Amino acid sequence: MDGKTNDILRKYPKGARDSLIPILQDIQDQEGYLSEQSIVEVGRYLNLPSGKIYGLATFYNQFRFEPPGQYHVCMCQGTSCHVTGAGDVRKELEKKMRLKPGETTRDGKFSLEYTACMGACHLSPLIRVNDRYHTRVAPGDVKGILNSFIEGEEE
Ligand code: FES
Repeated sequence: MDGKTNDILRKYPKGARDSLIPILQDIQDQEGYLSEQSIVEVGRYLNLPSGKIYGLATFYNQFRFEPPGQYHVCMCQGTSCHVTGAGDVRKELEKKMRLKPGETTRDGKFSLEYTACMGACHLSPLIRVNDRYHTRVAPGDVKGILNSFIEGEEE
């Protein structure tokens, strides 16, 4: 068993199936995604088939099954961001990145995720790329934001 996953599992009673979602959240917080191996280990610990865990985890948008990219783009989909135009920004992000939420580009550079409120509603719509926040984002800003990371590498 992977040491990190083991440490997480030990915080929960063995076989406590109602702990499944918090366990998966802990693993994703630590690893950045849910690997096949970690799902198998969780299944053994909770006595649940891996297929059932996948089925449940895919129901929730919050879980990723691929490692995040070098630049992990998180788009807020909370109410304030939604009201101030996040839907159009989301469409532009998916178009420019050619990704759906939870996916990573083949070269491993970018990944996309939609999140709950990031706690800065007065600055909505909001995008976070790794630790950097972009505020009051309009669809026309998306290309520049993504390019700033590519150009930053070339300097
Ligand atoms: S709803 Fe987006 S920061 Fe709160």
